[in-house]
Amino acid sequence: MKGILVGCGNPLLDISATVDDNFLQKYDLKPNDAILAAEKHMPLYKELVEKYNAEFIAGGSVQNSLRVCQWMLQKPNTAVFFGCIGHDSYGDILDERARSNGVDVHYQRTNDAPTGTCGVLITGTHRSLCANLAAANHFTIDHLLTPEKQKLVDNAEYFYISGFFLTVSPPSIQHIAQHSHKHNRTFLMNLSAPFLSQFFSEPLMAALPYVDILFGNELEAEAFAAAQGWDDKEMKEIGKKMLALPKQNSNRPRIVVLTQGHLPVLLIQEHSIEEFPVERLEPNEIVDTNGAGDAFVGGFLAQYIQKKPLSVCIRSGIWAARQIIQRSGCTFDGLPYFKE
Ligand code: AP5
Ligand code: NA
Repeated sequence: MKGILVGCGNPLLDISATVDDNFLQKYDLKPNDAILAAEKHMPLYKELVEKYNAEFIAGGSVQNSLRVCQWMLQKPNTAVFFGCIGHDSYGDILDERARSNGVDVHYQRTNDAPTGTCGVLITGTHRSLCANLAAANHFTIDHLLTPEKQKLVDNAEYFYISGFFLTVSPPSIQHIAQHSHKHNRTFLMNLSAPFLSQFFSEPLMAALPYVDILFGNELEAEAFAAAQGWDDKEMKEIGKKMLALPKQNSNRPRIVVLTQGHLPVLLIQEHSIEEFPVERLEPNEIVDTNGAGDAFVGGFLAQYIQKKPLSVCIRSGIWAARQIIQRSGCTFDGLPYFKE
């Protein structure tokens, strides 16, 4: 199993705090969104630390999923991660957290920017993410093309990349996607946030023909549909149209998995649509939903790479998300007790 799963993404340190609506308004942020920081957001990080007693938690969407996957598997170094960090203490924290969770991280390090951070602004059961990619934005395909990294890529059977990475290195995504296709591997991708379908449609649509399994939540699916010019609002209809988009390897039909918060998870395949119920956590049981979607994917991957049936993968995803929602950030403790 060693190195069977390779992920690429933005390694970010989450700066997480509960805030009030005024804070969101001040920085022009929606309660349940994920955006890239603009100039006007830059003072937000300092303010979170100084006035809101923020916590520092390892984040970054793909890295979160791989950490959860490793936790579920309890087999260190099954997952390999690529992304870019700076030469600084935030980078060291990410490295230490990921490694202690069993992820075999191979960071590119840049001198040109500090390690990226993500403001996680919690209001009730919603969270607003504001990512300052900084060093993460300096990732380049050269890192993947060194013989040592190429060996790790050659060795993998499953590749997972977030939509978030579309803003950073489309050439790296194409490289992995085409490699996966050429060698009959499995390529999994996440829509990650509405803004990606809106503003990064070109690299997204270039990657999609290679995507064997596509993940997304309802807001992301809606944004994707709108960007395609589809009028559908119904998740099942959107999912079916996602299946039908062009695919390179037509021998392996695409699978779409859509999460809908506490509503059932949809598994959409060529000849079937299945719903998997979620046992709803009440607002008083929710610590923060930050990491729910990432944990879902981590739980899914942990089973999928063991070739478990899709129904088990999805129930494992739901189980993992449930644990992470009851904790701050994408964190976990003790041994997993998921039962097939
Ligand atoms: P991100 O992927 O943005 O989302 P999330 O916070 O993990 O998940 P959400 O709360 O948005 O959940 P979801 O909407 O995806 O899924 P759903 O609600 O359907 O991850 C956060 C991370 O992103 C941060 O660490 C940050 O660092 C990183 N990030 C931000 N910007 C980035 C960037 N530019 N690049 C890289 N990283 C970036 O829920 C999923 C599942 O959870 C459900 O199917 C269900 O099983 C369960 N669930 C949800 N609600 C309930 C409930 N009430 N009761 C029981 N189960 C529930
Ligand atoms: Na959480």
